[in-house]
Amino acid sequence: MAMPKLKSTGSGYSAEIDEVEGASRDAIIALQIKRLAWSLQHAYDNVAHYRRAFDEAGVHPSDFRELSDLAKFPFTAKTDLRDNYPFNMFAVPRERLVRVHASSGTTGKPIVVGYTQADIDIWSAVMARSIRAAGGRRGMIIHNAYGYGLFTGGLGVHYGAEQLGCTVVPVSGGMTERQVQLINDFRPDIITVTPSYMLAILDEFGRQRLDPRKSSLKFGIFGAEPWTNAMRAEIEHAFDMDATDIYGLSEVIGPGVAQECVESKDGLHIWEDHFYPEVIDPETGQVLPDGEKGELVFTSLTKEAFPVIRYRTRDLTRLLPGTARPGMRRMEKVTGRSDDMIILRGVNVFPTQIEEALLATDWCGGHFIIELSREGRMDEMTVLAEARPESWDGSGLAAHAEKVSVFIKNTIGITARVQAVAPETLERSLGKAKRVYDKRPRG
Ligand code: DLL
Repeated sequence: MAMPKLKSTGSGYSAEIDEVEGASRDAIIALQIKRLAWSLQHAYDNVAHYRRAFDEAGVHPSDFRELSDLAKFPFTAKTDLRDNYPFNMFAVPRERLVRVHASSGTTGKPIVVGYTQADIDIWSAVMARSIRAAGGRRGMIIHNAYGYGLFTGGLGVHYGAEQLGCTVVPVSGGMTERQVQLINDFRPDIITVTPSYMLAILDEFGRQRLDPRKSSLKFGIFGAEPWTNAMRAEIEHAFDMDATDIYGLSEVIGPGVAQECVESKDGLHIWEDHFYPEVIDPETGQVLPDGEKGELVFTSLTKEAFPVIRYRTRDLTRLLPGTARPGMRRMEKVTGRSDDMIILRGVNVFPTQIEEALLATDWCGGHFIIELSREGRMDEMTVLAEARPESWDGSGLAAHAEKVSVFIKNTIGITARVQAVAPETLERSLGKAKRVYDKRPRG
């Protein structure tokens, strides 16, 4: 008889977590003050951009004495990093870099980030901590389907998994048929992949007539794009696994800035001993109190090669008090980036809200795109939602689609045309899903 699957591991993790994960809030704050002072000085002394920006703002690293002093320092924007392309934001001689990564961004030049050996060691440690929080343990097999290459997902997870003592299968993204074959043959415990690509893997299980609930997978670590609790429920049910959220961005280090833990799944624990978070009002730049929603800003505390000071992520979320890691605050699941926000006839909408509405049905499994067009002077939104194979009637599920449209009107307050499309008609992403196609004329 097959071994029953191990679900959440209860409190069994306590013997293994890093000491700092059990530290008090006061201990974490004391550490942050010490490390922030170092990081500000390091950036000022070694990066021309920070020296200029601090001087222009009339602040000096020695003005920093307590956490609230950080607000005196200028923000760093994506454009600052782009303007210094490729290597001008580095705080160490190029020869000390052991690796670079780059994020493609939506337009123009990529943002290049770099790491010393000490940076890679810290990244591996926070990734190992993240995998462990998600349920991973030494000796487990991890199927890593995040893309390898300039994207930080593949190699970031890879080094963390090795440090934790896992056996890594470095599959990267793509060749979905083979992904399923390897999951069947190697029997991994953990899968790391974007949630949207996990749905493509799920489809492939169906195509091969395999029951995903009977797969060996127990834990999924999903991130690199916004996803909802409705999507979590969909994936957990389909694979009979525990799914947790991982957050990170290249500029701050890569994946492993914050991670949900499998025991509570109550938001992501920010590894505050290495990354200092603030949430600001994106319009005014004012720091908001914990609990209020705004734009997430990070300052690195320990990075050598590429320190970031008050970096504006454009990701929208709120900070919450610590729970399972008492000294470290949590962040709520990211709703979306300010760049992805759609303003339709004056109402703000995020693709995650559409995802929630679609997953509340029983006919759509979560593959969807949003098209924006202009008819006359009016902006129109059309949601193309793929039906599950077992729900597809061959014609268009018109009554079901109409119900979602009414639901969206009642809950979000916008008029969207919802169109059900046949299974397997929408393009699958191998990494981050592209949800919004803006076909409105420019200008
Ligand atoms: O996406 C790093 C990563 C890899 C994170 C693998 C998690 C797993 P970038 O390509 O630089 O780095 O993109 C960073 O992706 O600012 C968010 O907008 C978005 N993002 C990342 N994780 C999440 C998440 C990687 N869990 C950008 N929820 C970030 C929502 C996320 N958005």
